[in-house]
Amino acid sequence: MSHQAKMIVDKDFVISAIDDRLYGSFIEHLGRAVYGGIYEPGHPSADERGFRKDVLSLIQDLRVPIIRYPGGNFVSGYDWKDGVGPIDQRPNRLELAWRTIEPNKFGMNEFVEWSRKAGTDVMWAINLGTHGVDEARNVVEYANHSSGSYWSDLRISHGYAQPHAIKTWCLGNEMDGPWQIGSKTAVEYGRIACESAKVMKWVDPTIELVACGSSGRQMASYPEWEATVLDHTYEHVEFLSLHSYYGNHEKDTATFLGRSLEMEDFIKSVTATCDYIKAKKRSKKTMYLSFDEWNVWFHSNDADKKIEPWQIAPPQLEDHYTMEDALVVGCLLIALLKHSDRVRMACLAQLVNVIAPIMTENGGQAWAQTIYFPYMHASVYGRGQALVPLVQSPKYDTKEITDIPFLESIAVYNEDAGEVTVFAVNRDLKGSLPLEVDLRSFGGSCRIIEHLVLENEDLLTSNTSASPNRVKPHTGGNAVADGSKINSTLGKASWNVIRISLL
Ligand code: AHR
Repeated sequence: MSHQAKMIVDKDFVISAIDDRLYGSFIEHLGRAVYGGIYEPGHPSADERGFRKDVLSLIQDLRVPIIRYPGGNFVSGYDWKDGVGPIDQRPNRLELAWRTIEPNKFGMNEFVEWSRKAGTDVMWAINLGTHGVDEARNVVEYANHSSGSYWSDLRISHGYAQPHAIKTWCLGNEMDGPWQIGSKTAVEYGRIACESAKVMKWVDPTIELVACGSSGRQMASYPEWEATVLDHTYEHVEFLSLHSYYGNHEKDTATFLGRSLEMEDFIKSVTATCDYIKAKKRSKKTMYLSFDEWNVWFHSNDADKKIEPWQIAPPQLEDHYTMEDALVVGCLLIALLKHSDRVRMACLAQLVNVIAPIMTENGGQAWAQTIYFPYMHASVYGRGQALVPLVQSPKYDTKEITDIPFLESIAVYNEDAGEVTVFAVNRDLKGSLPLEVDLRSFGGSCRIIEHLVLENEDLLTSNTSASPNRVKPHTGGNAVADGSKINSTLGKASWNVIRISLL
């Protein structure tokens, strides 16, 4: 096959209407995500609540629809009651998951207030490590019940007369992992998740629940874990979670760029497991997936081993992302869009400082890492319907992965705006890739609004506090429209967003 790619974008070949929550993120009480990240009283940009406005502004630009909180591994030892009520009376606790001191200066009520300012919804994870059914119902009552009961009246006494109306709840976190406080076998977890789900919905029948899938497909118990957990919870939950992180440990960029194919395989096999249980139970209900932890994570692994325990908010998991990582994140976003019929929610893990698109200095500035840009583009321009990617592309093989297409792409149709957006990564590290996009099904001619490109000669370069703008998108892409066809040349190792007006 010649070294060029072709894509047919047909408005009748729809994967799914994209759930906005596909572009969610995650903030855990870990490292400097909360303290020194979103919350830093005394910072020059802090508002009256101690929320950093510089960070809020970067988050608002991302249009993050939902944020998972407060963990992560943290949640499995967390008592949510420590984080509510008068701030000066809250306890310092030994936080065993990340071996820090948790000062509890920020908790549920602060997070709900902060989320409103950030323009995002809350996805609350409950503790099913050290807590159980009783706390599961209590926390929903505190957050969502209007008034006239012990826990709802306590919330009111804390200054929150209106219920928080948190709709989406995770039943614990990575309960299959031996590193998890109170980890469980699939049967133990399936039972407690089922009983917790029951009482949580008895308190508030409008909530949606996410059961824990495997913490990764490398786990020995995967995918039997999924099957067993769903056997116990199928009729009680709406979502099953997936988690996956990718790294370039081998310094093999060609393979690293192909890892999104593994993410797709993971999604397909979890979907198959859900459908197996659906068939087994003769259920009419379809289980959806919540890919509520995904990202690149490897740069900070060695540094984290050297961190002294029992500090407040030390700099943990602070990956400094490169151009290469941004390409991988772009491919992973496209993989999620390709499966948006089943993956309804996903969370880029995480949002600030901890394996995050946004970095801050305590007392200093905040800036966008390389991965911020594909995430922002997908979240802002990727709303509407995901269209089936009918793609012809040359492919390459690496030792580990075969048949990796040089072109990774998908189109999103936003009917209301009269726009199609093509997201495309050229995985070719050596040369550009000519791309023809055929939009014949839309009839008439189209116009390029802009062709955004993220690229850099040095794939290992990053944005830093001293040079925060080294890697940022430009609008100099060369896509041109000719009737209903778009032609462009995708630069080597580049992320591209071709925005097309149909009006
Ligand atoms: O996101 C960092 C950690 O990764 C989370 O706490 C945990 O759920 C996962 O292992």
